Amino acid sequence: MGKDVIIALDFDSREKTLAFLDRFQEEKPFVKIGMELYYAGGPAIVREIKARGHKIFLDLKLHDIPNTVKKAMSVLSGLDVDMTNLHAAGTKAMMEAALEGLTRPDGTRPLLIAVTQLTSTSQERMEEDLLIREPLDQVVMHYARCAAGAGLDGVVCSPLEAGKVHQGCGEGFLTVTPGVRFADGDVGDQVRVTTPAKARELGSDYIVVGRPVTQAEDPVAAYRRCVKEFVG
Ligand code: C5P
Repeated sequence: MGKDVIIALDFDSREKTLAFLDRFQEEKPFVKIGMELYYAGGPAIVREIKARGHKIFLDLKLHDIPNTVKKAMSVLSGLDVDMTNLHAAGTKAMMEAALEGLTRPDGTRPLLIAVTQLTSTSQERMEEDLLIREPLDQVVMHYARCAAGAGLDGVVCSPLEAGKVHQGCGEGFLTVTPGVRFADGDVGDQVRVTTPAKARELGSDYIVVGRPVTQAEDPVAAYRRCVKEFVG
């Protein structure tokens, strides 16, 4: 599996997104479309970016009853994205149904990745709000093993957890890791951050980078710096 840098297109309009992508004349970065852009631009923006030649991670984090997720995934797979995701908390039955829905008649499908516990959830909030009393890292690993057991391709996690996830679920089980910052850059609201070079060392398969590229004075140079540090 080739390592790659995924740019998070966290924009609220088609215009801003395309103006950003227009800066990239020589390369076609792998991009992530999350809820903000999807709710603003709908399926049309996904098709438009795909037609420009980008690989797409559609980050909509589905979580509903198995039948609903299966049908929704079937529609998303028609958008021809390369990767999409759901919440492992929806249970193994939901993840299995999602895989079924995502698989096209010809047997191909986008990669399916699970969110374990969001990185914004602390041990305290998990215990008090969700009544989950196990240590957070064990909950993350348990959800990752459930996702692997359901046949999913990997999880979204912190680069700091990538090694453990590979140990528990296999080297081929993908780790897609946000929370990446340059050593000399702003951390913003991310708490547990690593540099692209460190993420590579820790075994991440894909890094998701938003503001360090989208808000950079020269986004193309910032993207190239990420690729150089992470992919080599
Ligand atoms: O701007 P920044 O590099 O922090 O963007 C990271 C991206 O990864 C955002 O789109 C954010 O929603 C997403 N993400 C995250 N942490 C998670 C899951 C997704 O930062 N646990």
